Amino acid sequence: MQPTPSCLFIEGGHKLKGEVVISGAKNAALPALAATILAPGEYRFSNVPWLIDVQTMLDLLCRLGAQYETTNTALLLDTSQAKDTVAPYDIVSRMRASVLVLGPLLARYGRARVALPGGCPIGKRPIDFHLKGLELMGAKIHQDHGYVMAKAPRRGLSGAEIIFDFPSVTATENLMMAATLARGRTIIRNAAKEPEIVALGEMLLKMGAKIEGLGTETLFIEGVKELSPTEVSIIPDRIEAGTYLMAPGITGGEVIVKNTNPSHLETVIATLREIGLEIEVQGDTIFSHRGRNLKPVKVRTAPYPGFPTDLQAQVMALLSTVKGTSVIIENVFENRFLHVEELRRLGAAITVEGRVAVIQGVKKLQAAPVKATDLRASASLVLAALGAEGVTEISEIHHLKRGYEALAEKFNKLGAKIWEAPCQHHS
Ligand code: UD1
Repeated sequence: MQPTPSCLFIEGGHKLKGEVVISGAKNAALPALAATILAPGEYRFSNVPWLIDVQTMLDLLCRLGAQYETTNTALLLDTSQAKDTVAPYDIVSRMRASVLVLGPLLARYGRARVALPGGCPIGKRPIDFHLKGLELMGAKIHQDHGYVMAKAPRRGLSGAEIIFDFPSVTATENLMMAATLARGRTIIRNAAKEPEIVALGEMLLKMGAKIEGLGTETLFIEGVKELSPTEVSIIPDRIEAGTYLMAPGITGGEVIVKNTNPSHLETVIATLREIGLEIEVQGDTIFSHRGRNLKPVKVRTAPYPGFPTDLQAQVMALLSTVKGTSVIIENVFENRFLHVEELRRLGAAITVEGRVAVIQGVKKLQAAPVKATDLRASASLVLAALGAEGVTEISEIHHLKRGYEALAEKFNKLGAKIWEAPCQHHS
């Protein structure tokens, strides 16, 4: 007999009050771990979030031959024996970001065989920008039985000018990493500018890479012969911070969000203030308080420094009970409204046409059994459930564990009532 799956149960209606400490950013940890392939040796990482996606990247590196151990405060990773060049389907299918090993493997070993990530619930999410960029750098790439087979010419990858149609985050990271060991100069135009890319660039600089233009839309990378291992502290997770900043808007009360980088959250903070939350920044701490009258707003997601698509579902949960009509335009992914159906089950009044969602604020949401459809969607259901009447049961919570460290513990410390138990309404 199959064991009953676990669900998250959330009793709504508790005001939040207290402090929460933000973890390291998943989306900074993943490329930083992949970058260790570029220079085999011993690395020390701190502020690594303990998440399923991070575990998946470590499993992948171990499959390539790496070893790791953890201490209370650090992750020690040794890639000196990581000489295999195959990223197998059973790991890549668990996490798309596994594709981040493609550039480093090709640059370091001249070949890579990486399974195609396959379908993803939030849109097509192809990897054509990654592949086209590597081809411009001289790689020969073809597809074979579900795998991307890539080979660099005998003398290695060479510098090239790459222009993205859209500033893709992981494609920028993959090509920046590959370019650090290519012959000559690579220019990446219309590059993504997310803080996680800047953090990766800074790690590569410490390893001996030559990169200019970090944080701008044009990156110049002068290839070097060799890089060396380094120590890295992972930057705070701006998406996790944004999620906790929104919570008092739904539950009332006040949350003090610690270990953040407020400069990474400027657009998010501006949007929350426009909605009517009282937000105050002091060093790396941000105070969020509900405020009196919340107002409906128009939110457009966009590549950084725009409003992050990874907080779109959560802000929708917040706007669901804000009186009036709010509009959300999703400009990054073409199918990232899967959470709408589930929010409707909780009583939200939302209509969607193409990339536009229109939200009519309702007085109260009501608890119901709902299903997490992807990582950020699950966070929006948690937020909605915290403000709903009754006990909400969320299934498919593995999505949540991919990206939110100790979510139930952190919210419970703030006064929420969240527990994990065998599902009752979901089989
Ligand atoms: C990264 C983040 C993810 C976030 C997203 C957008 C990581 C590990 N994940 O994902 O959390 O939601 O950025 O901020 O950092 N595209 C193509 N061809 C490509 C690559 C992308 O058409 O080769 C399109 C995508 O379909 C999408 C858009 O570009 O519409 C942006 O995607 P991208 O920035 O690549 O997202 P990821 O890097 O996968």
